[in-house]
Amino acid sequence: MGNYTITVLAGDGIGPEVTAQAEKVLETVAQLYGHTFTFQRGLVGLTAIEAEGAAISDETVALCEQSDAILFGAVGGATPGAKVKPEQALFRLRKGFQFFANLRPVHTFQALLNASTIKPEVLQGTDLIVVRELTGGLYYGHLEPAVPGKPSEIRQTERGTEAIDTLLYTEEEIERIVRVAFEIARGRRKKVTSVDKANVLSSSVLWRRVAERVAAEYPDVTFEHLLVDACAMHLLRQPSSFDVIVTENLFGDILTDEASMLAGSMGMLPSASLGTRRTAHGTFGLYEPIHGSAPDIAGQDKANPLAAILSAAMLLRHSLGLEHEATVIEKAVERCIDEGYRTADLRESGKEVIGTKEMGNRVIETVKRIA
Ligand code: NAI
Ligand code: MG
Repeated sequence: MGNYTITVLAGDGIGPEVTAQAEKVLETVAQLYGHTFTFQRGLVGLTAIEAEGAAISDETVALCEQSDAILFGAVGGATPGAKVKPEQALFRLRKGFQFFANLRPVHTFQALLNASTIKPEVLQGTDLIVVRELTGGLYYGHLEPAVPGKPSEIRQTERGTEAIDTLLYTEEEIERIVRVAFEIARGRRKKVTSVDKANVLSSSVLWRRVAERVAAEYPDVTFEHLLVDACAMHLLRQPSSFDVIVTENLFGDILTDEASMLAGSMGMLPSASLGTRRTAHGTFGLYEPIHGSAPDIAGQDKANPLAAILSAAMLLRHSLGLEHEATVIEKAVERCIDEGYRTADLRESGKEVIGTKEMGNRVIETVKRIA
């Protein structure tokens, strides 16, 4: 039994809808196991820009600072070209707290084998985790100039309008993320696939060199390299062949949207973003579904809250050290799927479609049943 403080940053679009369900599940767990979770709320994204003038205020960052973990919804939905982008909230949190390791487990539930557009025999046995580097690469090129002048901008030249982004990685950044992947692999099926584009990019040549050096320290773990384009293909050809995939920021972003279809929907994939800061019982982290604010379905009670709920389970495991409670939530989610409950994104003939709130309630009932 313990006291924990969780900062909830629900954000925009479906963010608040799915986060509310995750919070309800956490409250249920607290009641059942005698924990006290204090939820403190802050604004992020478009909502924060409108109310406070920035995608995330200093006060909200300070709230995060004083908590054991951050539960995040989604941000986004600004008009293209807007000066202040909602996504800046995430960049500030990721960089500020050095959440360099983004863990994205992809697990295909048996009962969802037929919900995917991919053949069940291909999906069978899919259970992998993508370890995505989160604080370097193209997304941060504008912060660390690699070339004189501005490394990320749209500019007018004699050749016409051009744009530049910089993909920069230091040896240290590569080493620490690859190490995370190997440590995780030791607790799983002991295989690491390092994904790069070493046939073209210098940053990938360095990535490969460093990955090989780290791999030599883990002779018990099978190690392979894949080029990112080939990896995208193999993920659909034989997903069960993967255990741990480690890759840079942009590749990890794209590959996990693709991999979400192995699990049936974007609404099924949770994530944890971790750094080196410790909490009393684990690692300080930010937990969020991999999907965005989904403006096309926002406000309609249609969003699948399971990715957010599974993110809350990861929060319990990694930041609060509550492994048993995390497992109970994960089992409850699978049980609800087994019992045939589906949100619209997992539509399957013969299965009743329920809304966001009702799915949240089903998970809560199941948590109570199996706790
Ligand atoms: P998206 O992930 O929001 O949506 C892509 C598609 O998946 C949409 O058709 C959406 O309806 C569906 N979808 C996503 N989550 C779902 C859920 N839980 N249940 C059912 N269906 C779901 O990506 P999109 O549309 O490209 O981006 C929308 C906004 O979100 C953009 O402004 C983008 O920058 C932002 N974004 C924010 C992220 C974050 O906060 N971490 C991550 C990705 C995008
Ligand atoms: Mg993404």
